[in-house]
Amino acid sequence: MTADSTAPGTPYGTIPPASPLPQRKPISLPRLAQMRSAGEKITMLTAYDATFAAVADAAGVETILVGDSLGMVCQGLASTVGVSLETMAYHTASVTRGLRRAQGTAWVVADLPSGSYHESPEQAMRSATVLMQAGAHMVKLEGGGWTAPTVRFLVERGIPVCAHLGLTPQTVHALGGYRVQGRDDAGAQQLRRHALELQDAGAAMLVLEMVPAALSASLTQELPHCHTIGIGAGNGTAGQVLVLHDMLGMNLGKMPKFVRNFMQDTGSIKDAMAAYVRAVKDGSFPDNALHAW
Ligand code: KIV
Repeated sequence: MTADSTAPGTPYGTIPPASPLPQRKPISLPRLAQMRSAGEKITMLTAYDATFAAVADAAGVETILVGDSLGMVCQGLASTVGVSLETMAYHTASVTRGLRRAQGTAWVVADLPSGSYHESPEQAMRSATVLMQAGAHMVKLEGGGWTAPTVRFLVERGIPVCAHLGLTPQTVHALGGYRVQGRDDAGAQQLRRHALELQDAGAAMLVLEMVPAALSASLTQELPHCHTIGIGAGNGTAGQVLVLHDMLGMNLGKMPKFVRNFMQDTGSIKDAMAAYVRAVKDGSFPDNALHAW
């Protein structure tokens, strides 16, 4: 009998047996708040399977995003719009099993996919429960304004929430493409209003995607309780996120301007991830002159 066959089953497989205590303390919301107040940048990287998640954790990445970008990089879809909740749960369970096996300590954020939270807070709660049961520590949802009551509903029921503003890929068709958001006064004011509402609703993290560097830096100052994680949003945010395949130089299409290929000068994927962690922490990535607008 293998060790696994004695472990309790989940709808997505078996849970590895309990491991000895890990060396690094598990990343938690209080730990992230501590890092923020100490001025230490938070690192986030996407991962979609057990092995990459474990390697990212070992390279020092604190938060792993099981992003619905997996629709594009794993499933070959044209956008994230076609990703299902079932697919998100499958990849979330794979990531969290990998972390457990490797005694990883990363905080796992899983994307609520398109259509899984739009109808009502109750629908969002049901979808979030699926991802939390697959092992996520936090769920992420896109958009502002209408999402604030949903965020409050989830947070009041014990589900940590990461919001996502700026370029929101699930609404790429309504936005007219992958464009920088919040460039003009009206756009910037709306983004600021939505961000403050989301913090007030209890969102503990906020991804800012393709937002001008000055705007995301000033929002970060205005959001002490909600850690801003930038992607194409300059270096003034509390942390940074990149899509794994992009930072390894494996983008199938055109590489976005805000990406740096960390594989170029390193000999292994783990070294590339460690270089990313170092560059975010020492402030050399992103370089506002190269990776921001
Ligand atoms: O799905 C994803 O990978 C994301 C990042 C681009 C932040 O949402």
